[in-house]
Amino acid sequence: MSTRRIYMKSVVITGSARGLGLEMAKVFRRNGVNVVISDLNEENLKKAVEKLEEIQSDSKIYSCVCNVTNVDNVKNLISYAKENVGKIDIWINNAGVNQPEKAIWELDIKDINTVIDVDLKGTIICSNLVMQEMIENKGGAIYNIEGYGSNDATMLGLSIYGTSKRAVTYFTEALAKECETKNTGVIVGKLSPGIMITDFITNALGNGEKINLSEKTKKVYNILGDYPDVVAEFLVKGMLKNTKNNAKIEWLTNAKASFRFMTAAFNKRDFFNTKKLDK
Ligand SMILES: NC(=O)c1ccc[n+]([C@@H]2O[C@H](COP(=O)([O-])OP(=O)(O)OC[C@H]3O[C@@H](n4cnc5c(N)ncnc54)[C@H](O)[C@@H]3O)[C@@H](O)[C@H]2O)c1
Repeated sequence: MSTRRIYMKSVVITGSARGLGLEMAKVFRRNGVNVVISDLNEENLKKAVEKLEEIQSDSKIYSCVCNVTNVDNVKNLISYAKENVGKIDIWINNAGVNQPEKAIWELDIKDINTVIDVDLKGTIICSNLVMQEMIENKGGAIYNIEGYGSNDATMLGLSIYGTSKRAVTYFTEALAKECETKNTGVIVGKLSPGIMITDFITNALGNGEKINLSEKTKKVYNILGDYPDVVAEFLVKGMLKNTKNNAKIEWLTNAKASFRFMTAAFNKRDFFNTKKLDK
């Protein structure tokens, strides 16, 4: 009797010990995709693996410490993924940090560097290195995460983050074009998650420096925000279906946002009083 090897897709997600990254890993696992999660801290990764193991699936789970600002760490993550899953089908540049809620001139230069290094340079470094792997494999998909500023919006206290995300959007489109021009077989896309109720919105720089949300901001988040599992479900289904280069998979479209505002009077969501912030 011959044994037929069933090919399972694989995904590598940066910054996936919590938040959107972990929720996307769960959805991929539910869909039978092998997942490689990665993040800064081994302990947090262990806890994330335990959560993934609770999901019944034939897919395999791997984890690897990786700081996306460190070239050797990223090279190591790629080798680790190759060794364990063979081909990397999907790579998601998800790792990100928020900035302290300050005007540009009030920020420490080291904090400005951290935001640009993680949110923008991390995405560029990972894309540069994983492209080489995907070109060798004659295919694969890279997705980058948009955020506040991607659409040119500006707001006090989000300028450096917004600068990074605006640049991530440009970078993603440029990379998609180069992939096509050079006939690489690799596709590149943008994930637009809207507003999610994660640690991100109340922690600057990923290190627990608190961001105090104003009542007005909380009101907007209650109208437009969602828990990351809801957004992850939508984004992963989009990625699994997508075959086009330069796609944008967008959760909070303008139409959805307008509808949410129009129906705000009936909105019963209250993320900040009755529910736990991080899921
Ligand atoms: N939460 C939102 O409202 C929102 C909105 C739009 C876009 N985003 C983007 O979505 C992505 C995920 O955000 P989230 O809300 O899940 O945030 P989160 O803070 O819950 O998770 C981010 C993860 O990235 C990790 N990380 C930070 N620096 C890293 C580094 N140098 N190397 C590797 N990992 C690192 C953190 O440890 C954490 O696990 C980010 O790119 C963020 O900018 C978030």
